[in-house]
Amino acid sequence: MSKGRILVTGGLGYIGAHTAVELLAKGYDVVLADNLSNTRKEVLEGIEAVSGQRPTWWNVDIADPSATRAALSEQHFDGIIHFAAYKAVGESVAEPLKYYQNNLTSLVNLLAYVQSHPSCGFIFSSSCTVYGQADDLPITEAAPIKPAESPYGNTKQIGEEVIKETAQAKGLKTIALRYFNPIGAHHSASIGELPLGVPQNLVPFITQSAAGLRGPLQIFGQDYPTADGTAVRDYIHVVDLALAHIVALERLMDNAQEAPMEVFNLGTGKGSTVLEVIQAFERATGQKLAWSYAPRRAGDVVAAYADTTRATQVLGWTAQKSLDEAMRDAWAWQLAIGAPEKEA
Ligand code: WQD
Repeated sequence: MSKGRILVTGGLGYIGAHTAVELLAKGYDVVLADNLSNTRKEVLEGIEAVSGQRPTWWNVDIADPSATRAALSEQHFDGIIHFAAYKAVGESVAEPLKYYQNNLTSLVNLLAYVQSHPSCGFIFSSSCTVYGQADDLPITEAAPIKPAESPYGNTKQIGEEVIKETAQAKGLKTIALRYFNPIGAHHSASIGELPLGVPQNLVPFITQSAAGLRGPLQIFGQDYPTADGTAVRDYIHVVDLALAHIVALERLMDNAQEAPMEVFNLGTGKGSTVLEVIQAFERATGQKLAWSYAPRRAGDVVAAYADTTRATQVLGWTAQKSLDEAMRDAWAWQLAIGAPEKEA
């Protein structure tokens, strides 16, 4: 007997696939909506390899209002976990309209369904990006939302506002999860991160460089006011992140939420510098990494790491996996997939 029917948008993506695996393991009936705009169909095989089940996959563009209405008509879902969005900060600066059109229209299309099915819980993939450079560390959910540094970050801020106002007006059950830095892969090395083109994020660049697929890592900035001069982030294992989504979903399915929209930071509560991440990678894998210092990257904040009090005390969730474990899993995944996707 299924525990419930869940729609996972962006379900063939990095965090989506890891969440799908955990939903299947817990006995949920899972439908993945993904138009393959930033992933590969083979991820479905990976999910099946891990979970022994093949979830239903809808090849639908949820930014298309009529396609989304058609896909969702006559459908019952107990929950929707909405990952599908463009997420490359740099690209969003170059192509703002692409980001606003895709990220906001898909959200509005989904909320139209939830509005007419208010018992359906809605989980939104948000980001610590909404805080910009927070004044106080660690960062709590009460930290002020700073003007977005990129159209990508702005779509997350606007998205939260759209959800909050709609949930309040229509009595919906919604949660926004603000991720810090997701890294690593499922220990089976059957699913993981698939950066298409040159990785913009630190850990996939590290693994591709160590695998000889890229040149030396460039560390963006060595003069930050931190322990070793390199910037600080809160790196959370993607499986810990996936499990947090299940906890949040079940909170809504149990009608335990205390507001129409609740917000939770999802991190480890620990900050690591770029040099510390490199040291963890070398320690965990035995691989030596070539790197050199480079100028700071525009838009980067000095430090960001989560205050995890609310997630622990209200959600009852705490990240379990270490940075070393995430490095081991990321490296095993890199060895499993070999060379990166050719740039589209
Ligand atoms: C981490 C640190 C870089 C690459 C972004 C988005 C965020 C989320 C995660 C989507 C920084 C440094 C990186 C490199 C480096 N994305 N770095 N050399 O920028 O914290 O967060 O990705 O949800 O919304 O903003 O992650 O991995 O790009 O960078 O030195 O080649 O590693 O300067 O200090 P970031 P990141």
